[in-house]
Amino acid sequence: MIGREKLHEGKAKIVYSTDDPEVYLQDFKDSATAFDGKKKGTIQQKGRMNNAISARLFTLLEKAGVPTHYLQTVSETGMLIRRLDMFQVEFVVRNIAAGSLCKRIGYLEGTPLKKAPVVEYYYKDDGLGDPLLCQSHLEELAVVDPEDLAETTRLSRLVNSVLKEFFAARGVTLVDFKLEFGKDATGAVRLGDEISPDTCRFWDIATGKKLDKDRFRRDMGDVEDAYEEILRRVSSEPGTVV
Ligand code: TMP
Ligand code: ASP
Repeated sequence: MIGREKLHEGKAKIVYSTDDPEVYLQDFKDSATAFDGKKKGTIQQKGRMNNAISARLFTLLEKAGVPTHYLQTVSETGMLIRRLDMFQVEFVVRNIAAGSLCKRIGYLEGTPLKKAPVVEYYYKDDGLGDPLLCQSHLEELAVVDPEDLAETTRLSRLVNSVLKEFFAARGVTLVDFKLEFGKDATGAVRLGDEISPDTCRFWDIATGKKLDKDRFRRDMGDVEDAYEEILRRVSSEPGTVV
């Protein structure tokens, strides 16, 4: 049976158990938060759109050699996923300066990064506000051991090269994004969570228009349309987007 017991409710998703202890149901919600939950709202149809976008991108990444937790789409807002023991780290990959990087190193938004992709590690701890970790902090906290850190970093870079090319062929610049990894029952590292306009920055190549959650964070309007546009682009064949 699907959706047996609610195991965890986050800001954007609910995870349920199923009859198989190694398989969970991940259900995407319309609710949206930003700035550590200080800003709250609803993005109509977001659950449906993020479920479809994530499924498409997980499938693409699996084919390109990135193991993911995705198993199967089971409803408009739900997908079956493999149970993972998650690392308490968020991996942020950046090609172009935006968001917190601009505040941290003083670059103007839109500056291409000379050392792209820049990979950053954040401690998943709401009480601390998910702080940026340096190498010594990672070693001190021991939240990811050295081999797993090497593997998650390698996979983060591979995800970037696959998605950058995929989106460029559909008229979208992949500015930056956040990933979460965990280990499956066999001990293998897999990509978990979601990949959606909630967790990535997407800019239209032709117009520079933001097609992601920054429209919600910064009250820019047209939020639902931006998510719908990303769904349309990821569902399209390369070079066919007008
Ligand atoms: P940042 O510039 O705010 O650090 O965000 C970098 C990328 O990570 C951006 O694509 C948004 C994504 N992100 C999340 O998915 N969750 C978060 O909690 C934060 C802070 C960023
Ligand atoms: N997801 C985070 C929050 O809920 C931050 C963000 O995406 O801006 O606060």
